[in-house]
Amino acid sequence: MIISKKMTSEFLAKECENMGEKLKVGVLASGTGTDLQSIIDASERGMIDADVTVVVSDNKDAFALKRAEKHDIKAFFVDSEGEKDIHHEKEVNAILEDNNVNLVVGAGYMKILTPSFVKKWYGKLINIHPALLPSFKGANGQKDAFEYGVKISGCTTHFIDEYMDHGPIILQAAVKVNPSDDRDKLAANILKVEHQILPRTIQLFAEGRLKIDGRKVKILDGDSWKEKYKTIPGVLFSEGY
Ligand code: GRF
Repeated sequence: MIISKKMTSEFLAKECENMGEKLKVGVLASGTGTDLQSIIDASERGMIDADVTVVVSDNKDAFALKRAEKHDIKAFFVDSEGEKDIHHEKEVNAILEDNNVNLVVGAGYMKILTPSFVKKWYGKLINIHPALLPSFKGANGQKDAFEYGVKISGCTTHFIDEYMDHGPIILQAAVKVNPSDDRDKLAANILKVEHQILPRTIQLFAEGRLKIDGRKVKILDGDSWKEKYKTIPGVLFSEGY
């Protein structure tokens, strides 16, 4: 993938700064939307220089849509007919463009994005995954890791590329599997940490601190949330948190 300057978080951050604007985030969500809520909360608390301006779901019953409405954020349900529904994605793309979104975040979005959508948004399209990639890709990261018997799992934020759960990794956090955990308890423990690394990732993007170099994401120097905000005991955060 060739990255043009316009795709870098540095360029976008400058663009927003020049316009005296906060980063506009579009969130794609299919479920209950707690990851979405973590971004909204961080924005309302002034922890991130970004606002969620639009939420799109492929599930009309997604609680994520209700959360958006509650916070006066535009919410759209876009119906989808199966896996590779090009019309669905065209509509999603049009909504994001109409709302001048600078960053698209997959937060529990269960549809696979097509290569043309990914190409269009590459560098400003991120995802959160509930496992330590590249292990346990797919829709059941926590359950698969638990059943495999891992002793440590966690979560990952990454840029989305044309392969599932594959693009350059931004942040990771490691969560210990306790002997008494079942898969739901492990998923709940990971989710709490997702709610920390996802807004942090957005803030790094908003500050223009993410530089993609092939498979690697270089995080430019700056502040650390470990020093600013409380972290969950026992969780190991990668550099940049
Ligand atoms: C999270 O674990 C996310 O990583 C996964 O789906 C879950 C979404 O939860 N892909 P929510 O809908 O944000 O509560």
